Amino acid sequence: LTSSRTSSRDLHLDLDVVAPRRRRAALEDALRDAIRGGRLGPGTVLPSSRGLAHDLGLGRGTVVEAYSQLLAEGYLVTRPGGSTMVAAATGPVPVARASSRSSAVVSRTRVDLRPGLLDLAGTFPRAAWFRAVRSVLASAPDSAFDYGDPRGRPELREALTAYLARARGVVTTPDRIVICAGFAHGLSLLCETLRAAGVSAVAMEDPCLPAHRAVVRRHGLAVVAMPVDGDGAQVGVLGAGVGAAVVTPAHQYPTGVTLQPRRRTELVAWARATGGVVIEDDYDGEFRYDRQPVGALQGLDPDHVVYVGTASKTIAPGVRLGWLVLPPALVDAVADMQRVGGAVPPALDQLVLAELIRSGQVDRHLRRLRLGYRRRRDMLIAALDQLGPDVTTTGIAAGLHLVARLSEGAATEDDVRAAAEGRGVALAFLGPHYHGGVDHDLRDQGVVVGYARQSAARFPRAVRELTAILRDASSLR
Ligand SMILES: Cc1ncc(COP(=O)(O)O)c(C=O)c1O
Repeated sequence: LTSSRTSSRDLHLDLDVVAPRRRRAALEDALRDAIRGGRLGPGTVLPSSRGLAHDLGLGRGTVVEAYSQLLAEGYLVTRPGGSTMVAAATGPVPVARASSRSSAVVSRTRVDLRPGLLDLAGTFPRAAWFRAVRSVLASAPDSAFDYGDPRGRPELREALTAYLARARGVVTTPDRIVICAGFAHGLSLLCETLRAAGVSAVAMEDPCLPAHRAVVRRHGLAVVAMPVDGDGAQVGVLGAGVGAAVVTPAHQYPTGVTLQPRRRTELVAWARATGGVVIEDDYDGEFRYDRQPVGALQGLDPDHVVYVGTASKTIAPGVRLGWLVLPPALVDAVADMQRVGGAVPPALDQLVLAELIRSGQVDRHLRRLRLGYRRRRDMLIAALDQLGPDVTTTGIAAGLHLVARLSEGAATEDDVRAAAEGRGVALAFLGPHYHGGVDHDLRDQGVVVGYARQSAARFPRAVRELTAILRDASSLR
């Protein structure tokens, strides 16, 4: 260890700009920064508390307390003579960058037409959220700052009960709702609960979102494929060995088909006969353009269907709020998983969302969004129609994406991918959504086009880029 003396100058600390009651914390921060950054190396002897207090114009007690805190945290040690020095195992720590596989894609991307993403600048209701935060802070009971019910704030569960009944035909009471951090988290909680109850296999639509298959598998559950046709998931494949079935009835992801009434009845009959659980992912149920939204499957049988909703499409994915509407038999077990895991979403955010729902602002926000998305969808369909028989659009009645299917003998997904990369356009394809991955049936090739990411102003250009890519790709054939 080198043993060198230091002075208050090494701390780069200007206390004139720090409020008096923050000065001890500011001194602690400055010491930590100087040690972590290497300005105060291991073995450096610190000034006496009296000397530093004098230099900085602080009370001696303040410096003693700051030193004690850093002694307790292991940054400092005391020497036999009583002086204080920087501990041996400190010093600059190189901060490794976390890898992000998507960052390379994003940095080269000029136009983004991937599904599941929003135009955050144009859609997040900042002003309404701000007003709701103010109102919530003024009126929240003190209990909002406590640990609280693992199911989430009662205000949000009550607001959701009324909203979901009205907007989605969900049948529930507030005590059957558990607030979670979006669909992926809700699915994770359900898998954990079902596995603990002895379930070993979960059926999922084929195709479906690969990330959701990963959630199920990560919980040690086998994934059984439910092929999707024009009527939705083929639920006839479900057997007694399957404990749960995950479906997207209102707007199948990614194909966009609606689960037809006969399939709905069949699915519920399977659940009743086997004790299986249906997990309804209603990720974009609020967005329907051809007629009234298709009501939630949960309304058919609230005792066997778990309804899962999310704020990721209606407000923003970064809000990380979702809700599970549970059959009575599952409520305690899921709430217990939530309590043990400790990942209950922040109470204040829950109260803000409750306020936005209760005051009718969510409805207003959705009316505006629906109008804008409908315009974009129509523009996209009209442009794709110009391409002739090589491309057909499907799954257009609802949601924030459609599928541009590539006809047999026309361009393949690989052709389109190559053309898109050359132009800096980010696209998603049907292939990876299939359980068998990219080797799926070659007749079923398509681009999953999300129309919510680009701003309204940039959207027409994005559509032109897409059609140019599809033309380029076809000319490669
Ligand atoms: C099929 C599907 N389900 C659910 C979601 C929402 O997930 P989360 O609530 O975890 O953001 C998405 C988002 O894109 C989705 O595509």
